[in-house]
Amino acid sequence: MENFSLTRDELIQLTSDSFLITFNEDLNFEPTQFIMIETPTSIVRKPFGLGRWYGKLAIGVQVIGPGTKYIIEQRYLKAHGPCGKGFTPPSGKGAVIATPACLAIVFDMHRRFLCDVFIGSLEKLKIEVSFKTVLGDEEFVALLKSLKAYDWFFVVGSDQMEKVSYNLLKDKGQVFVSLNEYMACGVGACRGCAIETKHGLKHLCVDGPALRGEEVWN
Ligand SMILES: Cc1cc2nc3c(=O)[nH]c(=O)nc-3n(C[C@H](O)[C@H](O)[C@H](O)COP(=O)(O)OP(=O)(O)OC[C@H]3O[C@@H](n4cnc5c(N)ncnc54)[C@H](O)[C@@H]3O)c2cc1C
Ligand code: FES
Repeated sequence: MENFSLTRDELIQLTSDSFLITFNEDLNFEPTQFIMIETPTSIVRKPFGLGRWYGKLAIGVQVIGPGTKYIIEQRYLKAHGPCGKGFTPPSGKGAVIATPACLAIVFDMHRRFLCDVFIGSLEKLKIEVSFKTVLGDEEFVALLKSLKAYDWFFVVGSDQMEKVSYNLLKDKGQVFVSLNEYMACGVGACRGCAIETKHGLKHLCVDGPALRGEEVWN
C-alpha cells in the first residue's frame, strides 16, 4: 500500500459526463483493484478502479458530483493504493459488461483474459472503440438476453445495471459484479464499507470490490 502522486497525460472525453484519464506514472495492479484519490471536496478519499489504455495506467471518471469534477480538472492527483482484492476469472470463455466510465478497467481485462467486452451506454461514445457498444436500456437488455456460450460474466458499472445484468445472466454462467459501496479508508481500517452477504459481513475494500452476484442477491 503506497501513497503517491499521479501526473495526468491525457484526458479523453467518452460521453457528455464520462472521461478517461491516462497517467505518466505506472503501477502494478490486479484487475478490479482501485486507488483512493484525494479531493478538497470531502475529508475522505474516493475510490476509482485501475485500468489501462494502450499500455498507459488509466482510470475512468463519470462526473456526478464535486469530487469527480475536481478530478478531471487536475494535472496532479494524490492517491493511495492499489486497494482491494484482485479478480481472477474462472476457467472458460468470459464476457465483461461495462459502462463507458469503466472502459480503462475492461480494456485491461480484455488484454489479460482475452475475454469479450460489451459496453452499455446511454449515448454514443465520442471515440471509436473496438468493443460492441449498445445504446439505451432496451438495447442493453436485448444484448444481455442474446449472450450465449459463456462460462463467466463480469459486470461493472452502476448498482442498478449490475442487478439487472445479474438477473438476466445468472442462469447462463457464473456472474461476478464490482460493487459500489461508500468507502472512507480503502484499506480495511474504518469498517465503513461493510455489506451483508450470504456468507456474513464483508468489507468491500478488502474482500472485494468484485463478488459473485449470488453472494448478495437471490
Ligand atoms: C470500488 C469502487 C470503484 C469505483 N471506481 C470508479 C471508477 O472507476 N470510475 C468512476 O467514475 N467512479 C468509480 N466509483 C464511484 C466513485 O468513487 C464516486 O462516483 C465518487 O466518489 C463520487 O464523488 P463525487 O464527489 O463526484 O460525488 P458526490 O456528490 O460526493 O457523491 C455522489 C455519489 O457518489 C458515491 N460516493 C461519494 N463518495 C464516495 C466514496 N467515498 N466512496 C464510494 N462512493 C462514493 C455515492 O454513491 C454518492 O451518493 C467507484 C466506487 C467504488 C466503491
Ligand atoms: S473503506 Fe474503510 S474499511 Fe473499507
